[in-house]
Amino acid sequence: MRHPAAQDPERVTTERLDADTAGIVRAAHLLGQGRLVAFGTETVYGLGADATDARAVAAVFEAKHRPGFNPLIAHFADAEAAFAEAEPSTLARRLADAFWPGALTMVLPRRATSTVCALACAGLATLAVRVPGGEAVREMLRMVGRPVAAPSANPSGGVSPSTADHVMAGLGGRIDAILDCGPCGVGLESTVLDLAGDTPTLLRPGGISVEAIELVIGPVRRLAPAGLPASPGMLASHYAPSLPVRLDAAGAGHMEALLAFGPLPDTTKRETLVWNLSPGGDLHEAAARLFSGLRHLDDQGRRQGLTGIAAMSIPSDGLGLAIRDRLQRAAAPRPGHLRHATG
Ligand code: TXA
Ligand code: MG
Repeated sequence: MRHPAAQDPERVTTERLDADTAGIVRAAHLLGQGRLVAFGTETVYGLGADATDARAVAAVFEAKHRPGFNPLIAHFADAEAAFAEAEPSTLARRLADAFWPGALTMVLPRRATSTVCALACAGLATLAVRVPGGEAVREMLRMVGRPVAAPSANPSGGVSPSTADHVMAGLGGRIDAILDCGPCGVGLESTVLDLAGDTPTLLRPGGISVEAIELVIGPVRRLAPAGLPASPGMLASHYAPSLPVRLDAAGAGHMEALLAFGPLPDTTKRETLVWNLSPGGDLHEAAARLFSGLRHLDDQGRRQGLTGIAAMSIPSDGLGLAIRDRLQRAAAPRPGHLRHATG
């Protein structure tokens, strides 16, 4: 079964909701049903989905036509809810006191008990969390009661939207609703700060200046270390399995696990470790199952002493392009020092 939000992206009627009680209740209800709802924060409009529902999150990538699965920011009504999913350091707590609600996103170690699906955080061991400004959106998040994943609500490659009209122009007909919270105060995305490592590191400059942050926690590293691109979309800091991945495989070879798509090849043995992304060849389902599948084959495969993962070919249309992009990253040769840097 396909996700409701994905049935026919071109034919969805996009509801426009006022940010009054009725509108907020409706927006929260739709999100709880796995639907896509754009909403205004103080920075930019976000395209929200229940972060615990991999199919809803896959629908976000599909609606945006995003070519790769970047990790998404999880949005919360308050710091307590955020820190239930990600583990705060002392510095993180201080920053939350100083800037939340506000335009600061903190990358923190993801708790083992986190309910956020692997697709939303691109399989990383960290989670980006934020408590956005704007009464209406926080009321909505409180009602949803779950983390809400939200990239900026623009088609991929486009400019981030700062009004409900911008969102309608870019994504109208492809998403279920827009909560009109008025024009965004900040209009520039949140500052993304990595607090999961030894030194606080700026990953993306944004709505809150580094200088303001440094007044609260001291020195912040502004540049990624030499050779390490700052954006996790760029390298193996996306989930990189420890077993080598072989692309466009016709089937599993000797001592290989199989990441399948569509009907299993006749050569598949009964004892072969298999994760089928979608037996029916549905790319949407495959996207939702990709990161959990890689993790499963890697964990089980290592336990069984296997030496690699054979990934069957994926078509490059629709979400297939993003899946192929992620598989290529997973298969790319990795410098030794990065190889186990993230999980
Ligand atoms: O202001 C904003 O942050 C807006 C509103 C809607 O909240 N959201 C936004 O999301 O700009 P997006 O998806 O366009 O950008 C998220 C940024 C990306 O640069 C992504 O790489 C980074 O956050 N990010 C997310 N999770 C991460 C993680 N675990 N580690 C490092 N970077 C992460
Ligand atoms: Mg964006």
